[in-house]
Amino acid sequence: MFIVNSPVLETKQVHENIYIQKIHSPEIARLIKPGQFLNIRVSENTFPLLRRPFSICDVDGENISLMFNILGEGTRILSHKHPGDFVDILGPLGNGFNLEGDHKTAIIVAGGLGAAPFPFLTRKIINNKKIISFVGGRTKQDVITYGLENLVLSSDDGSIGFTGNVVQSLENNLDKIEIASSKVFACGPNAMLRVLKDFCLKHNIDCEVSTECAMACGFGICQGCPIESTSNSDKYLLVCKDGPVFNVKDVVI
Ligand SMILES: Cc1cc2nc3c(=O)[nH]c(=O)nc-3n(C[C@H](O)[C@H](O)[C@H](O)COP(=O)(O)OP(=O)(O)OC[C@H]3O[C@@H](n4cnc5c(N)ncnc54)[C@H](O)[C@@H]3O)c2cc1C
Ligand code: FES
Repeated sequence: MFIVNSPVLETKQVHENIYIQKIHSPEIARLIKPGQFLNIRVSENTFPLLRRPFSICDVDGENISLMFNILGEGTRILSHKHPGDFVDILGPLGNGFNLEGDHKTAIIVAGGLGAAPFPFLTRKIINNKKIISFVGGRTKQDVITYGLENLVLSSDDGSIGFTGNVVQSLENNLDKIEIASSKVFACGPNAMLRVLKDFCLKHNIDCEVSTECAMACGFGICQGCPIESTSNSDKYLLVCKDGPVFNVKDVVI
C-alpha cells in the first residue's frame, strides 16, 4: 500500500455525468488488481476532510483510470482536475476479484456506475475465457458500457435493451449460457446485488460481488464499514479490508 501524489493526465466526460480520469501512477499501476480500490484525497484543503474511495477502472502501462459521477463536493472537485493537477492516492486497497479458477465464461453483471471496475477486469480475463457483459440501469442514461464487450443491455423503463432489471435480463438469457462453467462478477446497488445473490444461489452459479458502503480510513482501522458475515464464527467483516469483493455465499447483502 502506497500514498502517492500523482499527476492527472486527462479528465474527460464520456457519458452524461460520467467522467473518466486518467492518472500517471506507476506504483499503483504495477500492483493493482481488478476489483481493488483507491482512497483519494481530492483537495489540498481540509474540505472535504475524508478521502473518497474509487474502484480502479483500468490500467494502461504506468497510467490508471477512474470512472465516477458527480454526487457531492468530492467528486465535483475531482471532475475539475486538469492535466498537471495532482491527486493524493492511498492504495491499492481491498482484495479484488478472483479471476483464477476453471470457469470458461465470465459473466459481468453491472448496474449503473457498478460498471466502473469492469474495463480492467475485461482486460485481465485471459486463457480464452468468454466474456458476456450484462449492463443495466434505470434508463438509457444510466447504462454505462465504457470499456466493456459482448454487451447485453437492459433498462428498467425500456429506453434501451431488455425492459427490466439486469438480473431479469440475465435470467432471460439463461438458456444461452453454460451455467456450470460460468462465474458471475458483479457490481451495482445493494438492491441489485441482493436479487443477484438469490438468483445465483438458486441456479448454483459461482458469484463474486463488489459491495459498496460509506468508508473512512479504507484499510481496516476505523471499523466504519462492517458487513454481516454468513458464518457464525466471524459475525462481521470489513468491506475495505476483507472486501470490497465477496463471494455471495459469505455475506448478508
Ligand atoms: C469500494 C468503493 C468503490 C467505489 N468506487 C466508485 C467508483 O468507481 N466510481 C464512483 O463514482 N463512485 C465510487 N464509489 C462511491 C464513491 O466513493 C462516492 O460516490 C464518493 O465518495 C462521493 O463523494 P462526494 O464527496 O462526491 O459525495 P458526498 O458529499 O460524500 O456524498 C453526496 C451524497 O451521496 C451519498 N453517497 C456518498 N457515497 C455514496 C455511495 N457509495 N452510495 C450511495 N450514496 C452515496 C451521500 O450520503 C450524500 O448524500 C465507491 C465506493 C466504495 C466504497
Ligand atoms: S473504512 Fe475504516 S475500517 Fe473500513
